Formats: sequence, C-alpha cells, structure tokens
Amino acid sequence: MYDDLPTSYQVRDITISPNIVLAPMVGVTDSIFRRMILSLGGCGLVCSEMTSASAVSPRARSRHRQLDYLPEERPIAMQLSGSEPELVAAAARVVEELGADILDINCGCPSPKVTGGGHGSALLRDLPKMERLLKAVCNAVQIPVTLKFRAGWDEESLNYLDTAKMAEQAGVAALALHPRTRAQGYSGVADWRRVAEVKRAVRIPVIGSGDVRDAADALRRLRESGADGVMIGRAAMHNPWIFRQIAQLRAGMQPMVVTPADKYEFLTRYLEMCCEELPERLALNKLKQLIGQFGIELPGAAALRSAIHHSTNVAKAREHLDRFFAQYVDAAVAG
Ligand SMILES: Cc1cc2nc3c(=O)[nH]c(=O)nc-3n(C[C@H](O)[C@H](O)[C@H](O)COP(=O)(O)O)c2cc1C
Repeated sequence: MYDDLPTSYQVRDITISPNIVLAPMVGVTDSIFRRMILSLGGCGLVCSEMTSASAVSPRARSRHRQLDYLPEERPIAMQLSGSEPELVAAAARVVEELGADILDINCGCPSPKVTGGGHGSALLRDLPKMERLLKAVCNAVQIPVTLKFRAGWDEESLNYLDTAKMAEQAGVAALALHPRTRAQGYSGVADWRRVAEVKRAVRIPVIGSGDVRDAADALRRLRESGADGVMIGRAAMHNPWIFRQIAQLRAGMQPMVVTPADKYEFLTRYLEMCCEELPERLALNKLKQLIGQFGIELPGAAALRSAIHHSTNVAKAREHLDRFFAQYVDAAVAG
C-alpha cells in the first residue's frame, strides 16, 4: 500500500534513510532528546537546535553546548541562524570542524527576538541578502548546506517558489519547507500544497514540515506532496515512537500501541540521562518542559503534570512519576 513511496533521499553523497527526520526545535532537540528518539528507531536524520552564528566562533568554544553531539547521532545536521554572510560563513567553518555532516541554515524562525536581528524568517523579506548569505556559506564549507524556510513573511508576500529556486542556484543541497508564513506563527494549518509546488520547481530534495500528527498522516503527506521526506517536530515530543510507527505502517504492520510501561520507561530514562549530563536544575527543567507536551493520555495525567511542574528537585519529580505509573505499569506487567 505504501510501496510506491520513497524511503530515502540524498543530501549530496549522504543517504538519509528512512526519509523521516526529526525537526530542529530550540530548547528540545538537544543531544539527549535526539539520542532518545534515535534509540526508538525509524528516524533517519537529526538536527541540532538553531544556534546563532554570532555565538559560534573559534573563540566562543565554551558556548557551543548547543552543538554538542555524540558519534552515534550521525548523520547529524547542525543549524545556524544569522544575517551577515561573512559571519555566518565563519560559523559554518566551525560547524564543519565540529564534524557536522550537514549544515542547515534557518530562514524560518518567526520569533521577534530572532527576526529583530534580521535572522530567521526576516531573510524572507530580503532574498538578495539571503542569496549572498547562502552563497557565502556554500563557498565556505565542503559539507552540504541545506535550507529550512517558511512560505513567506505573510500571505501578501508568499515567495517560497522564488526562495527555493534561488537557494538551489546558490548551491543548497536540500530544502525543508514549513509551509506556514512568518505571520501565521504556529496558527492555522501547514498548507502542504506549497510543499508539492516546491517539489515540482526544483531538482534538489524537498522535505515537508508541519502538522504531521501520526504515522498515517506522515505517509499521506509524503504521497500527496510528492516530497522526498517528512520532518516531524511537535508530534515527536507528544509521541516519540511516531518514527517507529511510521516504519511499521509502511511495512504493512499495525503501528505499535504505546503502553504506559513504554511511557514510564521513556520518561525515567530521559530524566536519568538529563541528570547524568546536566546540572540538576536544568535536568528538572528539561523534564518539566517535556512532560508539558508528552502524551501521557491516562486518567490523572493533568495532576501528574502539575505535580512535576511544582517539584523543586529531581527526587520529588521522580517520586511523582514512579507513584503515578506504578498503578498502570504493575497492571501491565501482571496482565
Ligand atoms: C518548540 C519549538 C522549537 C522550534 N525550534 C526550531 C529551530 O530551532 N529551528 C527550526 O528550523 N525550526 C524550529 N521549530 C519549527 C519546527 O522545526 C517545525 O518546522 C514546526 O514546528 C512545524 O512542524 P511540526 O508541526 O511537526 O511541529 C521549532 C518548533 C517548536 C514547536
């Protein structure tokens, strides 16, 4: 039923297989989260959180934490934002030295803090500048450069086709389009017909990003848009097994049913990894952030979320997790 769909794509000589990838998310897709996702299977590529080029220079090494990764995460993309071509090109060289397989440039972030500095989706308002930036970066590094962008600044200035064609000419090796405008933020819907249009307009791989909620959704989007790959963001926080479920559905199997035991194991392992690698306060914050999005989907979930949000240390938060899941996990084991 899904045999006709592509299963991989090439970013120059790098094969991305499967063609279902984790979207970059600031504050979320750090090395720990990426390794958790990869450990569950079905995800072909991960990307760092967006990092400002101005924070990435050979002298700013200690501030590169956001670009930390482990070899088992490869192939890995690292994402930079910026507005000054030479500064981003210099940061691109650092990213290459750090061992990234792919350098991704962010021209989609709608946050006023980012666009205010001329970064992210602000570049959609100045394609000649974006072109200079992309050319400078492509010339600066050997690794493939990819672009993640939005459909335009607002509905009155939709320029995704011009952006895509310009980027291809500038030497960009693949595109990821989140087909909302900057003005939409995360409201409304991601119009995947725009992804289909971009796919028809260029020869480099095109990845679609936006509103993929479950396995069937991902494969339907892939089919309808003709895209080379699908990127999954928020749904990966809600259901980290979505990548594996897509692989199962594609192989003709029923997607796995995620049990309370799976959820308990994921959350506790995530917390343990955070505690091993981060100061306690940050580890606790990471859990608080994930639990806000994570699909617990059991009676009492709201109370658990609230209890964790009010926890003042990791031990307390862990206690809440243990107590909440004990009822379900014991039952699951007994059954
Ligand atoms: C919390 C959060 C952080 C994000 N950070 C980034 C980022 O660092 N770089 C980027 O290109 N997009 C970022 N995005 C956008 C996502 O990569 C993705 O394109 C968007 O969320 C739509 O996909 P989704 O519906 O699957 O979440 C972020 C989105 C969210 C929700």
